[in-house]
Amino acid sequence: MRVHININLLGSCVLTLLVVSYVAWLVLKPEVARFEEVVVADNVVYLPYPSKITNMNVEEAILLRRSIRDYTSDPVKIEHLAMILWAAYGVTDPKWGLRASPSAGATYPLEVYVVIGESSVLVRESEYLRAGVYKYDVHRHLLTLIKTGDLRGELADAALGQKWVRDAPVGIVVCAVFERTVSRYGERGRVRYVPMEVGHLGQNVYLMATALGYGAVVVGAFHDDRVQAVISAKPEEVPMYIIPLGVPSMPPQTSFEDIWRFIEARRSG
Ligand SMILES: Cc1cc2nc3c(=O)[nH]c(=O)nc-3n(C[C@H](O)[C@H](O)[C@H](O)COP(=O)(O)O)c2cc1C
Repeated sequence: MRVHININLLGSCVLTLLVVSYVAWLVLKPEVARFEEVVVADNVVYLPYPSKITNMNVEEAILLRRSIRDYTSDPVKIEHLAMILWAAYGVTDPKWGLRASPSAGATYPLEVYVVIGESSVLVRESEYLRAGVYKYDVHRHLLTLIKTGDLRGELADAALGQKWVRDAPVGIVVCAVFERTVSRYGERGRVRYVPMEVGHLGQNVYLMATALGYGAVVVGAFHDDRVQAVISAKPEEVPMYIIPLGVPSMPPQTSFEDIWRFIEARRSG
């Protein structure tokens, strides 16, 4: 009887200890961002980790990719922006830190800024990212706030007034630090490799945007110095592309059958 009571007592003690430990762990556990979580802290936005989230094949994305200049008033979801930035220039090789876009000698001359409007990037229900200019940190997959305010109008003015730059909820600005590539490859790096690399990045943005139901257009017509001023780029960061991004008013509807008919007509014509 005595032994029986002691076992009960011991059991209760162990149980109490387990419950107390669990509660203490819940209260004290370190705040680690889970892969699907967005954490907005001070001037940093920790983006949700890249993962497989689309249902579209690459051939469908290529078929449906179009330069889109008309957008609905819908915001861009942060998990989608995160995927588009990762597709642009994110790390795809954890051993060497190689990226989603190829680069001559892996010199990676490009820097990616994001101009975000008011109520334009949805973090979670009725919560938006602060309007401003952000810079994408490739290795840490996060955005750093560079300056606040809705600067899409200024960006559009710097891009010869192109309406889609003003209207799109998000404008991705791709800059090049030529010296990184030129120091290794000389003039060929400047006139060939760096511009080619901007094109690779642009196409990745187009395709990921398409697969996620967004539309984009690469914009090359703008005043470099004015764009540089809007985003507060460093003197050595030369703007190469502005890529407005939003939900298309009229998503492209082309089918493979349409393409077959196109080819057929030309073969028989
Ligand atoms: C280097 C380059 C610069 C471009 N600049 C602009 C631009 O300043 N404004 C614009 O509206 N579209 C621009 N475009 C998009 C083209 O107009 C578009 O790709 C072309 O009309 C073909 O249409 P698609 O992209 O739907 O196939 C540019 C495209 C490239 C490749």
